[in-house]
Parts: sequence; C-alpha cells; structure tokens
Amino acid sequence: MPPTNFRTLVIVAAAALSALFLLSSSSRQVASNAAHAVTPAKLPSIPSFDLDVPSKFHWHSSAHKPPVQKNSTSGEASWYSDWRWLNPFSSSVTLDEDRALLPPLAERPYVYTYLDTTLKRDKATEQVDKEIITTWRRAWWAKGFKPVVLTQAEAMAHPLYRDLRPKGMPHALEVEFSRWLAWSHMGTGLLADIYCLPMDAYEDPLLTHLRRNQFAQLTRFDGLGSGLFAGEKAQIDSAVKDALKDARLSSFKSITDAVKSSLFRVEQPTSIAYYDSGILEKRYSTVADAILKDPIKGRRDLNTLMISHLHIVWQNTFSSGIEVLKPLPAHTTALVEPSLHLAQLLAECPETLLPSSCPPNKPKCSPCVGSRMRITQPEAFRNATSLYTIATVPHPYTMITLDNQTSEVTIAHIRRNTDRDRWIHSATRDVLGDGRGGPSRVIALKDAVASEFGRTRSLWFTVEHFPPNIAVDIAADKVPTNDVEERPVEKTPFPENWLEEIDWHFGFPVPRTTVSHGESMNPVPLPERWQKGQQGIPADKKGSYDPPDPTENQQNVEAQLLKKARNTINSMDKHLRLMRDVAEKWNLADLEAWRFVRAFRAQSVMEREVFEEEESAYSGTNGARKGRWW
Ligand SMILES: *[C@@H]1O[C@H](CO)[C@@H](O)[C@H](O)[C@H]1NC(C)=O
Ligand SMILES: *[C@@H]1O[C@H](CO)[C@@H](O)[C@H](O)[C@H]1NC(C)=O
Ligand SMILES: *[C@@H]1O[C@H](CO)[C@@H](O)[C@H](O)[C@H]1NC(C)=O
Repeated sequence: MPPTNFRTLVIVAAAALSALFLLSSSSRQVASNAAHAVTPAKLPSIPSFDLDVPSKFHWHSSAHKPPVQKNSTSGEASWYSDWRWLNPFSSSVTLDEDRALLPPLAERPYVYTYLDTTLKRDKATEQVDKEIITTWRRAWWAKGFKPVVLTQAEAMAHPLYRDLRPKGMPHALEVEFSRWLAWSHMGTGLLADIYCLPMDAYEDPLLTHLRRNQFAQLTRFDGLGSGLFAGEKAQIDSAVKDALKDARLSSFKSITDAVKSSLFRVEQPTSIAYYDSGILEKRYSTVADAILKDPIKGRRDLNTLMISHLHIVWQNTFSSGIEVLKPLPAHTTALVEPSLHLAQLLAECPETLLPSSCPPNKPKCSPCVGSRMRITQPEAFRNATSLYTIATVPHPYTMITLDNQTSEVTIAHIRRNTDRDRWIHSATRDVLGDGRGGPSRVIALKDAVASEFGRTRSLWFTVEHFPPNIAVDIAADKVPTNDVEERPVEKTPFPENWLEEIDWHFGFPVPRTTVSHGESMNPVPLPERWQKGQQGIPADKKGSYDPPDPTENQQNVEAQLLKKARNTINSMDKHLRLMRDVAEKWNLADLEAWRFVRAFRAQSVMEREVFEEEESAYSGTNGARKGRWW
C-alpha cells in the first residue's frame, strides 16, 4: 500500500513541479517579450510623477535641506556645490526643486603681477596700462588662475622693504626687488610680468602643472628672464633674504643674477608667451618701432597684437571648428540664432597690425588669414577634443510651443501628443545612442557642460536667459519690415556688459563686428557645402543633416513664440504656471538640463563678480578709480 501511494504522490508532485516550472518560464518569456516591445520606441525613462501630487511629497519631508552656500543665488537661479554633482537629479541632494547641484568651483591659484607705482604717469599712459592689465588679467583668468595686480603697497608691507633703499641699487633692480617683496608678502603662486601671458589650451601640461600650485623648488623659465617665476612662500622668502645679504648686490643687473642660481629650477616655457623688448625687436619689429616712436600708441599696438595671438591660439586649439548645437532642427532656427551669431564673432579674424604673425612661443601657428573657422549646426552634441560647442537649452514649455507652432497648447496635447524629453534625447544621441533613459542622458549632458574637459570646450546658455532678453530680439530683428535697413549688419546686437563677461570666459575680447572682411553676414553654409566641410570631424551623418532653411514667415512665428514662451516661464498667471508645470513634469530630464545650465552659467558669472568685488578695492581693476594708484 504505502509504495503505491508514495508513487502517486511522487507523480503528482513531479507533475506539479513541472507545471510550475513551465508556468514560470512562460511568464518570464511573456515578461521579456513585453520588455522588448516597450524599450526601443519610447523609453518611459523617468519615474513619471503623478501631476496631482504636490512636489513636497516627492521626498521625505522630514529631511533638512543642505544649508545655503555663500554667493549661490543669482536671479532665479540658485545652486549648491557638491562633489555629488553628477547625480541625475539635483533635487535628490538639494531637496529643493529649484536648487541645482553644481560641481564645486575649481580652486584658482594666484598669479601676481607688479605695477611700479612710484613713477608719475599721465592720463594716456594710465589708460594704456589699464588696457594691458585687462588683457593680462583676462587671459590668466580664462586659464583657471586668479590674477592679482600688486603695487608698492604690498612691497611696503614686507618687513625687509626698509632695507632696500640703503643698499644703493640701480633703480631697475630696486623695482625688481620690490616686486619680489610684494610677491613674498602674498605667498605661494606665480609672479608674472605684465607682458607675460598663458598662450595655449587650458589642459596644456605646463598650465596644468602651474594650476596645481605646488612647487618643489623656486622655478624660473628658460629664456624668459624675469618674465615668470613660480614658487611657494618659504622658498620666495628665503631667496629674497639671501639675495639682500649679498655684498655685491648693487653690481647685479637683474634679480635672476642676485638670487643664487642653485635655488632655481629651470623649466621650458612651452605654453607661455613673453613679449619682452628682445622678442619685439626680433619678431615684431613694426611694433617695437612704434613703441620707440610713440610709446602710448606703440604699446596699444602691442596690446592688440597680444590679443590677436590669444584669439588665434584659441582658434587653432579648436581646429575642427565651432558647433552650434541644434537638436530638433525643424523649429529651432530662431532659437539658435544668438549662439550662431556668437560663433560667427568667434570665427572672425582678430584685427592686428601683423595679421600673419604668431605668438612668441608658437612660431608655427596657423594665422587667421587663409582659412576661417568652420561653423556647423549638428543635431547632437559631439564629444571631440578639437571642437568647440555653443549650445542653447530651451525650457520644456518653450520647446513644446515651438514644436506645435502655437502657444495655444493644452494639457491634453502635452500628455497625448508629445514625447518626453525630446530635446535631451536628441542632444545626447551621438554620445549615448538611442537606447538610454533620461537619467543617463542628464548625466552625460552635465558632464559635457561642467566637467573640466567639457567646460573648457563648450559654452551653454538657456534660451530664456541668453543673454537677458537678447535671444528673442535677435530673432525678432529678422522679421521683415518695410524699412530698407533690415538688421544691424556690422555691430553685434549683444549688450556690451554681456560680451565682456564672455570675453573673460575666452580670455580675449570677442570681436564686436562680423563683417570686417567685406563678407555677408549669413555664413551658414548650404547643405551640400556642409557635408564637405564636415570631413575630418568624427562625423555622424545624422548629426550633420541640415534641414531646409525655414521661410521668413516660419521664423517670424518662431521668434514670436520665443518671446511669448519667455514671458510664460516667468509668468505669475495661474493658467500659464499650470501649463509650465505640466510641461516640466512631463519632461523631467529636459527640465533638469535646463536648470543645470542656467545655474552653471550663473555660477561662473557670480564667481567673477565676487572676484571683481574683492579686487575692486585694489589696483588695476575696473573699480580702480577708487583704487590706490589712479
Ligand atoms: C557675495 O557674498 C558676500 C557675503 O555674503 C556679499 O557681501 C557679496 O555682496 C556677494 N557678492 C555678490 C556678487 O553677490
Ligand atoms: C498642435 O497641436 C494640436 C493639438 O494636439 C494638433 O492638432 C496640431 O496638429 C499641432 N500642430 C503642429 C504644427 O504640430
Ligand atoms: C568626452 O570625452 C572625455 C575624454 O575623452 C570624457 O572624459 C568625457 O566624459 C566625455 N563626455 C561625454 C559627455 O561623453
């Protein structure tokens, strides 16, 4: 009896088991089929929050928000700097929907220059000094340094200053010692001549080394004389003390003779340009002659020459050209217009007496005479070393109205007829392909905007803040009127203070006119020329497709929509706010990108504002009127 029963039991159990197995495997099959069916087309990538749930329930309401950091708001943008910045969604760290999570600002090491203020100077000389100082400060700032102008005030603060006069040194040497005393008073960093500029790409190895601000030994540079030194405070202090004790002091010509050569380590000045009188006579004699004839005019020419070299080196660094990012190109011609205009300004050849000359440290540059920089408008961001990208990110609501060609969009339209996060999907297609969700796209975009690699190769704006109110006005300029004069052809419509900010980003003044060569202002190439022009770039055929130019009427519509959308973004109107909120919740990744870019831009502007504020009390800055030496 028992065996039979037992056998039945075994059979039943086996049947049950295999049925179970079959069931589970088939259901697994179904599940994976379902997954296949869903993934490729539309990725529901972002957790779709229910629109009716108030935002405070998105996180635990009991958690404290991180404290507000110093100087971390500007207009509507606010941010929180943290190492976790590559988080796809800022609010998971800041616990605040409006506060963007940004990378901490990179530490800027000091570079000092010294201005001999003991000499009496007239107004014109002061003015040229100021222009040259601006060139110097802007160039070092753009390479990640904190440029500070020292004067006799700092030298006098050094205890050894009183010992200088009695030594009876020649005036030139005394000035050099004052310079070193001022440096020693400040401490670790670089000491650069006013005609000594960083002249290479941001990530050049020497500049990277100097930015680390750690020096095993006092450093000077081969062939630069007193052009540039680097050192730490203790090294500078002891070198000065040593030199001042030397009995032969008054017989020395320069400080490099006075300081024991064994104290110096000598490096090659690969990426440093020094425009001293020797190199001027040898390589730029036109300018050297001009200085002899009329120092004021001559030094102004020299300033223009230095600026043109900074610009050329920038153009050479981005040898594949400038890309003006244009995702969803069907309706975004008006939207990218300002970026395109900025790109055209950057592609201009700088004005100078010596248009085919190269910087002292780069005799083999390619001057901007034969070939101009290429400007293209790809749909997707391309991550290449030799490309510079200018991009404008639209708010999701702006993009929806542009796409629909009307501002009369409804909630139902947004939810039924629009795909989520279309802009970021298109913008990151080249780096991520098609199969990734919103969070990874946001991370890639943040990397492209704000990593060291990214931020030195691109400039991002939000459409609605590019620059305050200009985006629309440029596009609106295009609207045909009955006037004969259509739009400003020569002068840029960008406001001057906004351009100045951009100058500091690049390290040289962006040209203010686009037609210095008698060419017409619309150098957007035709599609055929485009494809040819793209050779040599890691090209993605899709990315370089150029849609047919929109008709004037269509552009007119776009411009008006941009204007309306911008008002909506800041509107207090209940209905408009609701529409904006729906657009935002529907496009969380696009929104995160927009907020990130808005805050990142505001942060860099703020960084410089704070710096200028600190420096305005001292000499050489824009605030110099209240300063100590003019
Ligand atoms: C930065 O913060 C300081 C102190 O909070 C403040 O005095 C200063 O005005 C701020 N600077 C800017 C540019 O907002
Ligand atoms: C705008 O949205 C409406 C409503 O969904 C739709 O019928 C219309 O075709 C859209 N227009 C365009 C140009 O996409
Ligand atoms: C671009 O390339 C650099 C270096 O190859 C890399 O570090 C960076 O993460 C890339 N950025 C993106 C957005 O893919």
